[in-house]
Amino acid sequence: MNMDPESRLRRAFEAAMKQVGGDDAIGMDPAVRPAGKPEFGDFQCNGALGLAKRLSRPPREVAQALIDAVDLTDLCEPPDIAGPGFINLRLSPQALAGAIEAMDTPDLGVTPDDDPGVVVIDLCGVNVAKQMHVGHLRSTIIGDALARILERIGHDVHRENHLGDWGLPIAMVLHQLRSDGVDLNALDLPTLDEAYRSAQAIARPDHAGLDAARARHSGPHRIAELEAQNEGAMAARGAAAETLVNLQAGDESLRADWQKLIDVTMDAVQDASDRLGVTLGPEHNCGESTYRTELQGVIDHLQACSMAREDQGALVVDFPDRERPLLVRKSDGGFLYATTDLAAIRRRTQVTDAIECIYVVDARQKDHFRDVFDAADQAGWCTNAGGHTVQLRHAAFGSVLGPDKRPLKTRAGTNATLASLLDEAIDRGTTEVRRRSESEASPTHGLSDEALNQIGRAVGIGAVKYADLSGDAVKDYVFDMDRMVAFEGDTGPYLQYAHARMCSILRRAEDDGCGADLRLDEPQERQLALGLLKWDATVHAAAGNLQPHRIAGYLREIAEAFSAFYQACPVMQAGSDDRKRSRLRLCDLTRRVLADGLNLLGVEAPERM
Ligand code: ARG
Repeated sequence: MNMDPESRLRRAFEAAMKQVGGDDAIGMDPAVRPAGKPEFGDFQCNGALGLAKRLSRPPREVAQALIDAVDLTDLCEPPDIAGPGFINLRLSPQALAGAIEAMDTPDLGVTPDDDPGVVVIDLCGVNVAKQMHVGHLRSTIIGDALARILERIGHDVHRENHLGDWGLPIAMVLHQLRSDGVDLNALDLPTLDEAYRSAQAIARPDHAGLDAARARHSGPHRIAELEAQNEGAMAARGAAAETLVNLQAGDESLRADWQKLIDVTMDAVQDASDRLGVTLGPEHNCGESTYRTELQGVIDHLQACSMAREDQGALVVDFPDRERPLLVRKSDGGFLYATTDLAAIRRRTQVTDAIECIYVVDARQKDHFRDVFDAADQAGWCTNAGGHTVQLRHAAFGSVLGPDKRPLKTRAGTNATLASLLDEAIDRGTTEVRRRSESEASPTHGLSDEALNQIGRAVGIGAVKYADLSGDAVKDYVFDMDRMVAFEGDTGPYLQYAHARMCSILRRAEDDGCGADLRLDEPQERQLALGLLKWDATVHAAAGNLQPHRIAGYLREIAEAFSAFYQACPVMQAGSDDRKRSRLRLCDLTRRVLADGLNLLGVEAPERM
């Protein structure tokens, strides 16, 4: 049970409201919140206003009745009433120190979820045979952060990489590579990428162009050219479709070649994951192909529940409130992206026993997930094998844009691949860290090349990850390398630097204030302490709303509160040894909360910068 001051106040006022309002107070929120301004105290209770309305009594009178009824012994200074009936609350110094004391444990006061269980996080989701692009970067970074946050509160998180490894696109590349006679044992990613693009181009008929050419009497030569292109496209599609049928039927040599494409793609994904420092490896791969033997079972179940209807040879699921049904089997008998997703939900909830499945996928797939989730619910898969209700949630994210608000390009002007972005970020971080280390006053002065490179890498990668996580994920986001690697502003390096500065202070003091009596007298000490006490609630809010940016915002607030504290309250020249040790203890606790938060965002926290 959480016993931080805010929760204790809420409980105390809940009881007082019942006492004052009797049955009228049932279900009423005491509305206890952190105070808007420090002048108003630390917290306020606004519940008197609502209760007064119910009781038809003047709100200030009800506020006074609540104050008379509430038991705040050992918790608050005598409260006062402000404005129409707000109750301002100020923690007693002992209560504040006691609360900080209580959170100063290895878990920093973060309480486990009331209902822990298996949570599946569907992240990364790269498509085999294509370079990973920045969209998959978002899915991977946000997915990893959510996984860390949910693990932090006690869930058993299963990361699953739902690879696009089983459909027409991959069959098209496979056909292309084979007809080009490429030696697949020597295949590399650029060749694979090139084959992907040319396979797509060859198979794209230009019907509109042909119609236009005919309408404009463009001349027989042009028309013949377009006709040939379209015939070629149809032939290529036909050949790719045949390849897919053979692959799906288990043709051994095709299977072996297919595996080579997967290996090449996944080597690059592994490399990117390692550089990003995300927990994602082969053990998390759960490609579309792994569901191939389960798709028919999904269809059988939908039919048995009378959910699926034949429509011109295809099979669809209708929704009363939607114009378009969900297609689950094509008229040629082929299954679709949605069918695989239904199979994945079935496996995750009925076999893995998940209580929650979170899909970290581009916001443009919103309708897909709405349909698939509703179909899964109708099919009975939103109750897991253990009888627990399962939540299916789409953690949608927006697109990555360049500083010009157009799709992202690299410095060289080509479409940005993930690898090129990471190279650039590491390069920028390292340059900045090296530049700073030249100053003799810098804690990094004199460190070895290797140590500096390691810090530079942490800064560059941390910058990219933080930029991705610090805004509301669902919004489009502008990838601006200059801004994200800066040591000032709302950036990863700013927070990393704040952390490193705390490390420096403690290192120089050779004392972390462990066990010191806390004396929180100055307003900046109080503000910092009150901020630290919000850590537990922040982690839970980020987990519950699937919003890592709440953690980012909180860490910024803490770093700023620390700055204000450090400016106003000398640590080494604190006046007395007791005061100095109390401040060192606060400094160390702040450092640990910051490190914990950065770790939840997957951002490294170097000790020197
Ligand atoms: N491969 C898909 C894409 O690139 C993303 C997969 C997301 N996960 C899922 N279960 N549908 O669009």
